[in-house]
Amino acid sequence: MAYGIGVIGAGTVGGGVVEILLSNAGVISDKAGVELALQHVAELREDLLKDLGLNDVTASKDAHALIADPAVNIVCELIGGIEPAKSFILEALNAGKHVVTANKMLLAKHGRELCEAAVKNNVELRYEAAVAGTIPIIKTLRESLASNHIHAVYGILNGTCNYILTQMSVEGLEFDVALKQAQMKGFAETPPDLDIEGHDTAHKCQILASLCHSTYVPLDEIFVEGITKITHLDVQYAQELGYRIKLLAIIRRVEGEVEARVHPTLVSEQHPLANVRNEFNAIYVESDMAGATLYYGRGAGKYPTASAVVSDLVDIAQRGNGPVPPPFRYSHSIATRDIGLLDGRYYLRFTTEDHPGVLGRICTVLGKHGVSIASLFQKEEDEHTDAHVVLMTHETVESSLMAAKAEIDALECIIEPTHVLRVL
Ligand code: HSE
Repeated sequence: MAYGIGVIGAGTVGGGVVEILLSNAGVISDKAGVELALQHVAELREDLLKDLGLNDVTASKDAHALIADPAVNIVCELIGGIEPAKSFILEALNAGKHVVTANKMLLAKHGRELCEAAVKNNVELRYEAAVAGTIPIIKTLRESLASNHIHAVYGILNGTCNYILTQMSVEGLEFDVALKQAQMKGFAETPPDLDIEGHDTAHKCQILASLCHSTYVPLDEIFVEGITKITHLDVQYAQELGYRIKLLAIIRRVEGEVEARVHPTLVSEQHPLANVRNEFNAIYVESDMAGATLYYGRGAGKYPTASAVVSDLVDIAQRGNGPVPPPFRYSHSIATRDIGLLDGRYYLRFTTEDHPGVLGRICTVLGKHGVSIASLFQKEEDEHTDAHVVLMTHETVESSLMAAKAEIDALECIIEPTHVLRVL
């Protein structure tokens, strides 16, 4: 049986899906043994529709008509954003159509409601392209690692941030220049705040955390810190200490709770994630039976993302009339761990006046809060410039560390708020 495919949104990813379905139909049927027939494309921008060269395919501006089209069995929602994407998906699910989406923000914010609609209508809602583009991490967690308890996931999930941090470290570029380059290459969100403030990574973290632990992890309980405060100095000092700075999504099971957090992290240069460069994504998973596994690939861009969308279409077609898997199984109710309870190592960079006794005062406050120093250095500067003191801690509890930071930042010898980075 041929499966009729409808694509809502013929922008970058939607256009890529259309191209793949039209040009690689033979490859799909050879490899997967299924026929995916593009039937209908809905797009408001006429110029985009014209460019696609759709001959025997219905082209319209009306997503409702596409959803109601009896030739369409599977609807791809590829317009992004919350509305009207959410309404289109619900309409399709309620019409008994399977849905494939790449919409990470929508899933992170409304995944529960969409999941309920899919289950109620006994149809599929698939979202491989929503997390790490071409890396099949959703399929891996749902199928390949299904027999495993997932202890930890460490993910580089945003190509824009990884590109910026790589360019700052390898090419010595300033943040703004690297961001402009990422925008020109076409993988940054519009506006890029979703990337650089960490929210895009948090959306993907929400999806992975819910999937790994079969629980609903509320997006607003995920700790999020972006990369906008990372300076050239931090990148350079981290490198001197043997680390790279990466924006990570970290999901761990700790004392019966789920830890889900997104922040720039010092990753030892020996760790496989340290060498994931530019727009590439990677996910390092620790599980009880399979042990450590690593997944790597392009997390953004037209064809990598479109390829992931088509992989979902293939899965739906191959399953045929078999039992329909729910998008998420919220079988457990597990609390999200408070960031204040985090037990880890930290990098601190103090900007101080270069006077006698300054270091002693900082160390006294750290000692008072039980923060133990592992190493410390100060760069020799011109006597008229501010001093930078860089310090690595031993394992310490986040709430104590932050209380010490607040007290230190209030000292008159401290010139700007202390930079704090967590260490993997
Ligand atoms: N803006 C995202 C990124 C696109 O840079 O990774 C893929 O989700």
